[in-house]
Amino acid sequence: MNLVVVSNRVARGKPNEPMTGGLAAALLPVVEKTGAIWVGSSGRVRDGNLKEPFAEVEALGAGALAMLDLPAAHYGGYYEGFANSALWPALHSRADLIRASQEDYASYRAVNAFMARALLRFRKPDCAFWIQDYHFLALGAELRDLGVRCPIGFFLHTPWPARAVIGGVPNHRELIEAMLAYDLIGFQTEEDCENFLGYARCDLGLAVHDGFITSQFGRTRAAVFPIGIDPERFAQQATKAMTHPDVSRLRRSLNGEKLAIGVDRLDYSKGLINRIKAFDRMWTVQPNLKRSVSLLQIATPSRGAIEAYGNLQSELAKLVTDVNGVHGEVDWTPIRYLNKGFSQAVLAGLYRTAQVGVVTPLQDGMNLVAKEYVAAQNPADPGVLVLSKFAGAANELDAALLVNPHDIDGMARTIATALAMPQAERQMRWEAMMAKLRTGTIQQWFADFIEALQDAQHSGDSMLPEPPTLWPRRAGDLAARYH
Ligand code: F6P
Repeated sequence: MNLVVVSNRVARGKPNEPMTGGLAAALLPVVEKTGAIWVGSSGRVRDGNLKEPFAEVEALGAGALAMLDLPAAHYGGYYEGFANSALWPALHSRADLIRASQEDYASYRAVNAFMARALLRFRKPDCAFWIQDYHFLALGAELRDLGVRCPIGFFLHTPWPARAVIGGVPNHRELIEAMLAYDLIGFQTEEDCENFLGYARCDLGLAVHDGFITSQFGRTRAAVFPIGIDPERFAQQATKAMTHPDVSRLRRSLNGEKLAIGVDRLDYSKGLINRIKAFDRMWTVQPNLKRSVSLLQIATPSRGAIEAYGNLQSELAKLVTDVNGVHGEVDWTPIRYLNKGFSQAVLAGLYRTAQVGVVTPLQDGMNLVAKEYVAAQNPADPGVLVLSKFAGAANELDAALLVNPHDIDGMARTIATALAMPQAERQMRWEAMMAKLRTGTIQQWFADFIEALQDAQHSGDSMLPEPPTLWPRRAGDLAARYH
């Protein structure tokens, strides 16, 4: 099968470059190995004729990466507008933060339509498209409109909320009806899948049986595929990273003190404010823990042009300053707060250095940081994962210390428990979690989805004649394969 994977953000396969977000990090090794072509945004925009998509194509392991310049006129309305100011808050059950205009919706649909036209270039015999994430809910319908009949799957990396919340998104009905053009829709958890099926049944009035929805497009299957990581590869990376200069400097700076670590995009769904308040509470209630543990919080700035993100960044910076001001000493900083990204190669070593990993989102599709933290540990002396029960990862990693991220006192007590946990219990919990990671790897996720996509296709694999050339040719063998 000639597989075309599509996502807004792509990764370029440079191990020493900072990587933003779980999706890009997760897809990279499978695209490299399977020989798929991965199509996404170049991060640049372009004026001019939207009918002529321009892509830069480069090799990526056995596969290829095609990066598209998106239309300048619609980029803001698509990315900062509808995708991240309407869909993202709704998908994370923050209906209060939904902001969207009809112009934003029109831009979102225009970029989905643009991407569909661009994808025709990569259509081949025995081809399948696998669309990723909330940026492209309507892409399958756009492809069908262009006559594409091959299997088209979709995977949502975020949660899917309750009906009442998704109902707060402008044009939700039209958009979700468009999603039914997909043959297969994958979710991270049973709850997400059930919420989606509930909407199809109750709001769209469609027949739903055994995870299959019948609509004007035919049958669409909705099912659960929890995304994983490559735990062995990550463990090797962590061992190697211990000699990386950044990791060595961190270890030297600790002077026997314990370390807790949090690594997140700076996003309101990640529960960063409550996490910092929990540490504040812990040092207040148990002052003996001052100087004996500090928190390294990496919060990589993201979507800075959106008001809610700017507000969060200011609020968080102020809170960290206040907590450091109250609990700090001339020679001790309780919270080391960094607003920048790190490569996977460094993060693996930072995770292995920390005795506690704090992953406490208010809502999260999966949260691969939780899985990476576990995989990075030293089996002889593993750290403890403190994990929000509202992260998708909590379904598998139930041997972590699960917390309610709204309960600040409870989190403070749990972090203290993690710090004091005896080695035998740490090992027992870690082994249970590693066993789960070894069964639910990223390779398995990929294989399971593709197998289900082949089974679920409702329109046969009839290929239409090749489409006309849509963008300028570029030199090079790899690019030529797709022209
Ligand atoms: O959670 C879904 C996801 O795609 C993550 O992989 C990533 O953290 C984020 O959404 C995308 O963020 P960005 O806007 O930086 O591409």
